[in-house]
Amino acid sequence: MNQAELEQLADEVLSFIRKKRKQIFAISTLAKKLKSESSDIYKAAKVLKSWGYVIKLSKSEITFRQAADTLSATEINYYLKTKIIGQNLVSFHSLKSTNDIASQMAATGAAEGTVITAEKQTLGRGRLGRSWHSPEKVGAYISIIITPKMSPEKAPGLSVMTALAAAETFEKYCPGKVRIKWPNDVLIGNRKVAGVLTELYTKNNKIDYVIVGIGININQKQTDFPQTIRKLATSLRQVSGKKINRAELTAEFLQHFEKEYKSYPKSQLGGSLKRIRAYSSLLGQTIILKTGDKSLTGQAIDIDKTGALIVEVNGEKVTVSGGEVTVVKGS
Ligand code: BTN
Repeated sequence: MNQAELEQLADEVLSFIRKKRKQIFAISTLAKKLKSESSDIYKAAKVLKSWGYVIKLSKSEITFRQAADTLSATEINYYLKTKIIGQNLVSFHSLKSTNDIASQMAATGAAEGTVITAEKQTLGRGRLGRSWHSPEKVGAYISIIITPKMSPEKAPGLSVMTALAAAETFEKYCPGKVRIKWPNDVLIGNRKVAGVLTELYTKNNKIDYVIVGIGININQKQTDFPQTIRKLATSLRQVSGKKINRAELTAEFLQHFEKEYKSYPKSQLGGSLKRIRAYSSLLGQTIILKTGDKSLTGQAIDIDKTGALIVEVNGEKVTVSGGEVTVVKGS
C-alpha cells in the first residue's frame, strides 16, 4: 500500500471510529469492514495519530478520543452541510496565498463552489496591497471560487455579502458583539476579526470567475499578533473566552455563504439589507472615505442592494461602491 492509499484508508478508519467516541474497535473487525489487512489498519491509525488525532492504539484495538486541531478537508467535511460551496474542497498545509491557488484552479476549469483552505499562508494578501498575517494553527484562510451568471458591475456587493455570512457565523460564538465595517471587514469591539478580499476576473466584459478570500482570526492570543496590528486585531477566542473548533467554524461559514450566495446573482443584497444595516458599524456616523487620491467627508446613511454606501455630503446623497473608511471620532 503506497502513502496515498494509506492516507485514504486513514480517512476511512477515521470516519468509522469517530462515530462512537471512546468505543473500543477491534482492528480485525475494522479490517473486515473496510476490506483491508489488519496490519494496514494499524498503519492507518498511526497516520491518524501523526495528523494530531488523539487515538488509543494497541496491536489489536483502536479507540477514538479526540479530533485533531486541523483545517484538513477531512475535518471540514465532517461538519459540512452545503450542496455546492465546498463540495470540492482542497486543503493545503502551507502555501503563499489561497486566493492565488484558487485563481489558478479556476483558470484551469475548477467547478463553481470549489474551496481552498490553508493551515498557514506565507504571503497572505489583504486589500490595497497590504499583507494578511496568516500563522499556523490559529486562523482560517479560505478562498471560494464562484462563477455567478451576472454582469461584472454587480460584483462589488459580493464582499459585503461575504462579510455578512462571516458576521452571522461569528454571532454564535460572540452574540451581539459582531459588526461589519463596510465594505470588507468584520469587527468585534472595534477590532478586526476577519477581512475579505474579493478578486474579479473577466473575459470579453463578462465574469469569468470570482475568487472570494477571507481570513479569520479564530484562536489567536493578543500576543500572537505582530506589534503593528496588536491594537487593531482580535480573535473569536479572545472575545468568547473559548478555544474554537476551526474546522467546524469554517464549515459553518461556508454554509452561511451558500445561503447568501443563492439569491445574489438575481437580487443582489435585496433580501439581506435589513441584516446588513443592523450589523453595520458605519451607519449614522460621520466618516472620511478615501478612494484612490480622492477623499470625501459626510454622514454614512445607508447601504443599498448593490452593496454601495450612501453618504450624505453637504445635504447631497453620494453613492460609493468601494474605498477606505475612517470614522470621525465623536460623531
Ligand atoms: C483585508 O482585510 O485586507 C482582506 C484580507 C483577506 C485575507 C484572506 S486570507 C485567505 C485569502 N488569501 C489571501 O491571500 N488573502 C485572503
